[in-house]
Parts: sequence; structure tokens; C-alpha cells
Amino acid sequence: MTSSPSRPTDSPLRLEIDLDGIGSLVFERAEASVNTLSSGVLRRLDELLGELESRIANGQLTALVVRSGKEASFIAGADVREIADVRDAEEGRAASAAGQRIFRRLERLRVPTVAFIDGTCLGGGTELALHCDFRVATDRSATRIGLPEVRLGIVPGFGGCVKLPRTVGLQRALEMILSGRPVPGARAARIGLVDRVVPAHAAERPLAEFVADVIAGRVDPAEPRLGLRDRLLERTAPGRKLLFALSRRRVAGETKGFYPAPGRAIDVLEATAGASLDEAYAEEARALGELVTGEVSRSLVRVFLLSQAAKKELPAEQLEAADRVESVAVIGAGVMGGEIAELAAAADRTTVLKDIDQEALDAGLRHAAALLDKAVRARVFNEEERGLKLARISGTLSYDEVAGCDLAVEAVVERLPVKQQVFRELESAMGPDAVLASNTSALSIAAIAARLERPGRAVGLHFFNPVHKMPLVEVVRAEGTDDRALATAFRFVLDTGKTPVIVADRPGFLVNRVLAPYLGETGRLLEEGVPVETIDAALRAFGMPMGPCRLLDEVGFDVAVHAGREMAEGIGERLAPSSLLDRLIEEGRLGRKNGRGFYRYEDGRSRGADPALTGMLPPAGPEPDAEEIRRRCLLPMVNEAARALDEEVVASADMLDLAMIFGTGFPPFRGGLLRWADTVGLARVCDDLVRLAEAHGDRFAPAPLLERLAGRNGTFTHPS
Ligand code: NAI
Repeated sequence: MTSSPSRPTDSPLRLEIDLDGIGSLVFERAEASVNTLSSGVLRRLDELLGELESRIANGQLTALVVRSGKEASFIAGADVREIADVRDAEEGRAASAAGQRIFRRLERLRVPTVAFIDGTCLGGGTELALHCDFRVATDRSATRIGLPEVRLGIVPGFGGCVKLPRTVGLQRALEMILSGRPVPGARAARIGLVDRVVPAHAAERPLAEFVADVIAGRVDPAEPRLGLRDRLLERTAPGRKLLFALSRRRVAGETKGFYPAPGRAIDVLEATAGASLDEAYAEEARALGELVTGEVSRSLVRVFLLSQAAKKELPAEQLEAADRVESVAVIGAGVMGGEIAELAAAADRTTVLKDIDQEALDAGLRHAAALLDKAVRARVFNEEERGLKLARISGTLSYDEVAGCDLAVEAVVERLPVKQQVFRELESAMGPDAVLASNTSALSIAAIAARLERPGRAVGLHFFNPVHKMPLVEVVRAEGTDDRALATAFRFVLDTGKTPVIVADRPGFLVNRVLAPYLGETGRLLEEGVPVETIDAALRAFGMPMGPCRLLDEVGFDVAVHAGREMAEGIGERLAPSSLLDRLIEEGRLGRKNGRGFYRYEDGRSRGADPALTGMLPPAGPEPDAEEIRRRCLLPMVNEAARALDEEVVASADMLDLAMIFGTGFPPFRGGLLRWADTVGLARVCDDLVRLAEAHGDRFAPAPLLERLAGRNGTFTHPS
């Protein structure tokens, strides 16, 4: 039996005390799917701490367990919307200091405190747990403990920078804070982040026993578990100096100077390594204040909020009416089919991979299995889970096994008659409610579905290669697609952990269309004699994950030409691929897949730009500067994005920005393609396009929407 001394019904947090005087501080935000530490929740925590202090003073409490009332989810972190609302550095610093004060108040309670972590524990949740005397975690795979703040362009600001190194040691703290990667319960125990791991399915008894041991004084608070080498590195001034220098070098390589937060986190840990606690907390709050209003954090926070918004692009009623996909047929076991099958199996769906060729099928199954292995190495799931997921995939050459599936994803060769045929075969093999999706890159969904008896069940699910890395899936609504098919496909994408963006059934959909002029212009620059590496370096310096020549190598020249032609035909010549690619294909160059692209490849590894290309390209002319190369490649993308927006290929500039980041790796720190254009200024973008059109041709002519916005000093996106 428990008493509930303070439990206003709408409270996100309550205190329960049992007959033995063991208190439970239970986080449970009724209206939200996860617990977050909004300022309201923190205020409530502060109030309850006051109550706890007086109960402790009266001898009513012997220990306190901090836990979540949500199933398999502890606390997901601060409320990111509030981060977006911080106006200036001082407000950011003050918010950080306020959180620190409350957590330190928890730390000072005169009874032992135990955080019970079952499920996601991120950011502020981890910092809260770090201010408890002990931590117990469950062995559930959803239990992950981390400080992902750098991914939002900030540092942990509720004491994480101060407490984590003092709990797990400097090296592990650096690793966790700089990568932002959460660790599962078992690893957390190994590094001393938690004191005990208990089975998720029967956690209460071992938890109670642990609390009893703590009360009886039978458990010592964990010390960082360091060997001799680690002690020398972490506990001596020269050792620490070396550690910080190595971390700085690594971070500089990884962030390429675009992301300030990891470097600033190192500064904080270095400045506070030997400092007093008060100084250390103050330094952390200052760093948070500086970063939180910077451009990079603003952009990363925007991207995070957009990714949340994307999940709600379909109204909740419609989503709830959607069928849950339990079994998936993937047709075509090529590059994409193998990846999509792995994705479905990883999401615990029964998955049937079908091909017409046994060898192709075997290769697809091997590829899917290798991806599952990779996920184990990346600690996405464990060996045992991998076995269960692998067992969910089967291969077949016949439609018999496909018959009972809820959803088919077609990923066969990119030829309309073949896809039409496959769709017809699927319709006759599968049940009347099965949804048929195509992964086509450039064909029309309506055309693929044209010969179906019920074309309304057809939808596009356009995945990006490599599927296991790229977070975006374009969900294509064709003219005739019915709401149920769309919602079912959309929900399936959500269930796999990918981010869906709904797009119209226009050639190239959204992402490939916006990318087409970028790749086309790259070809034209090459034809003018600008070297491969000069172009790639210019775009990498902008923050692109790889240059456009490298991207063409990865995509494959034949694929790029095919998609470019489809788009040029359906939309306009400005999207035509460069004729250079045709010549290269004639010479037997296809890109990375046959080891011959703009770059040389040996044993699958890249070896620099291929000198053999020089003879096929004009002699290097006067080189445009990097700025001009960027304008030539990026501004036509902005222009095409404006047209796509005008044609309602996508619902908003926000969703367009998200799609380009999640589908192509457009640099997140720039906030998105259109957000970037807004920061440059649309009048300037327009002027540059007019100048480029005069110099290089009509393909640069500014889009009507861009001109309209520039004319009235407008922007594509709303400032956040
Ligand atoms: P792929 O050529 O690697 O694989 C195609 C597979 O389909 C082959 O194994 C082939 O044996 C099989 N196949 C052919 N006809 C079939 C039939 N009637 N029934 C069952 N299987 C059949 O092709 P890839 O690259 O995997 O592309 C597949 C689809 O995905 C294409 O529509 C492509 O445009 C699209 N796509 C490709 C991307 C990429 O980067 N490769 C990215 C996004 C979409």
C-alpha cells in the first residue's frame, strides 16, 4: 500500500511514500508520450524537494527512489521547444543554473537516493540520475543512458559536464559527451555509470533489495573504475593535458570546424577538472548560454523539432485508422531490396524477400544478414535480438510466401513495364487489403499502378541508399492513392524508425529533383575544365558530407543519367544530366560500383581523383573561385526547391529542408537548404541567379516564387 501525499491530478511528477518510509518520486507526464524536463516539471520538482526536506527532517523518510511512471521510458531530456525559445546567452546561462540548483538540492537530501532507470534516459534525465547517490538500470534494450546535447549544438547544462567525469572518469565522460551516443545498461554498469543492472521483466524485487542494502549501508557509492594507465592519464596534470589535446584533435577532424559544441565541451571539462564544484557548475552554465543562442545550435534544434513535426504530418485520426503492418514482402533482392528487408526485420516485422534469380536472392539475404551483424557491432541491439530478427527474414522465388503479407515494397529494376507487371502479380497474389508500394526513384507511381484493378492501394515508398544510414523515406501520394494506403505506408515508415515526408507523384519526387540541378551543374563545371577535386573541396567546405563528384560516383553514372532524363522529360530541360556522363558511360565508367568513376578505386577503396580522366576533360581553364563554384551548384538547388514548393510537391519549406538534410546529408548546421537561402537573403540569391543566367544560360532563371519572395523582402521559412 502506498500513500500519495502530494498528487494533483495533472501533475507531471508525484511523491509516494510506502509504509517503510521509502519514497518514490515518479515522473509521469500524462499528456506526453515521454517524460521531459520542462521548466514546469523542474519547478514542480523543486517544490517536492522542499516537501521531501521537511519529511526527512521529521524522520518520515528513509530513502528515495527516482523513477518514471511511463512504461519502458525514463526521461528523454529537456523540453527542446524551450531550448529554441531562449533569447540570449544570459537567459540560457540562468536556465542552466536554475536546473543545476534544483539537481544539487536533490543531491543534498539527507537520505540515500536511487535512480531507477528503465528505458530511455537522455540529457537532463541522465543529469538527474547523476545527482542521485546510486543508479539501477534494467537490461531492456530500450534502456539507454546518454548525454546527446552536442547533437543539439549545446553542452550538458544541468551538471552533466561536472558529474559525469567524476562518476565514470574523464576518458569515458569525454567519449559519452563528445559522441552524444547513449550506452545500454550493461555497458553503463561496466563503466560505473550505474551500480546495478536488473532484469526488466522482474525489476521490482531486486530494486527493493538494492534499496534495502543501501539503507543498511551495505553498498558503497561507485568510484570510477580505472586501471593504472587510466589513473596516470586522468589523475596527473601531464596525463590530462595529453588527453585533452588528443580529444581536441579528434574533434577538430570530426567537426571540420562546423560544430562548436564538442570543442566547447572539452574546454569545460578541462577548465573544471580540478576546480571547485561551484566554479565547475558556473563554467558549465556559461558555456551553455554561449552555445544555445548560436547559429549552429539554432539550426540543429530546428532540425530536431522538424523531425518531430514530420512524424505528425499525417493527422492523428488518420494515422490511428491505418493498419499496422505485421508482415512485409520486399520484391527484388538487389542493393535496395536487401537493405529494406533488413530494415523491416530490424523493426520485428515478418519479412519475405523475393527475387526471380536465386543468386540475386542469396546475395540480398547475405546483405541483410551482414547489416544485422553491423547493427550488433554498433550496439543497436544485442546478439540474441539479432538472431530473432534474422529469423524473421525468409527468401523466396515464388509469390506463394508473399500472399499473406500486409505490405509489399517493390524494388526491382527501374523499368516501367517490369514494375507494372510486378504490381499486377502482387495484386493477384496478395489479399484485398494489402498495400503495394514502389521504391522507384524516378518513375510515376500512378503509371506503375495504372494496370491495377484497385490503383488506390498503390503508394510510393522512396528509400535512400544506404537505407540503414539515411533517415528519410519519401512517402509518395499519387493522384489516386487512397487515404488508408497512404496512412498504412506512413505508419510503417514510423515503425521502422525512419522519418517520413509526404511528397507528390511528380518526376524525381522531391529530393532527387532538387538534387538534379546540383549534379547537372557539377558536370558542366567539369566540362569547363574545373578539376574534380576543386569542385568537391568547394562543396565540402560548405559542409556537404561529400563533394558532388564523389556523390555521382556513389549514385552511379547510369542511374544519375536515367533519373535525370526522366526528370528533364517530365519537368524541364534544366534538370537534364550533363552530357559528360554519357561520354564517361560509353568509356565504361559507371562510378564506384565498377571501380571506375571520377575517383580511382582499388579493392573497393578510394584512391584520389582518376588521372586517366584528364584526357577526357578539357584542359583546366581559369578556375572559378570556391565561392562561385558553390553559387553555381547550390543556387539552382534553391531555385528548384522554390519551384517544387510552388507546385506543392511537399507541404512546406520546413518539410523540404528536413527532407534535404535527411535524404542527402545537406549540412544540418545550416538549418536546411531554404533556411540557408533565407540567411543569405533572397534578394541576393535572386540577383546572383540573374547574373548566372546571363553568363551561363536560362537554366538559372529565378523561379517565380523566389522572385515574389525576394521582391517583398520575404523568406521561405519562419524564423525560430
Ligand atoms: P538492383 O539492380 O540492385 O536490384 C534489382 C533486383 O530486382 C535484382 O536482384 C533483380 O534480380 C530483381 N528483379 C528484377 N525483376 C524482378 C521481378 N520481376 N521480380 C522480382 N525481382 C526482380 O537495383 P537497385 O539499385 O536495388 O534498385 C531497385 C529499385 O530501387 C529501382 O527502382 C531503383 O530506381 C530504386 N532505388 C535505387 C536506389 C539506389 O541507390 N540504388 C535508391 C532509391 C531507389
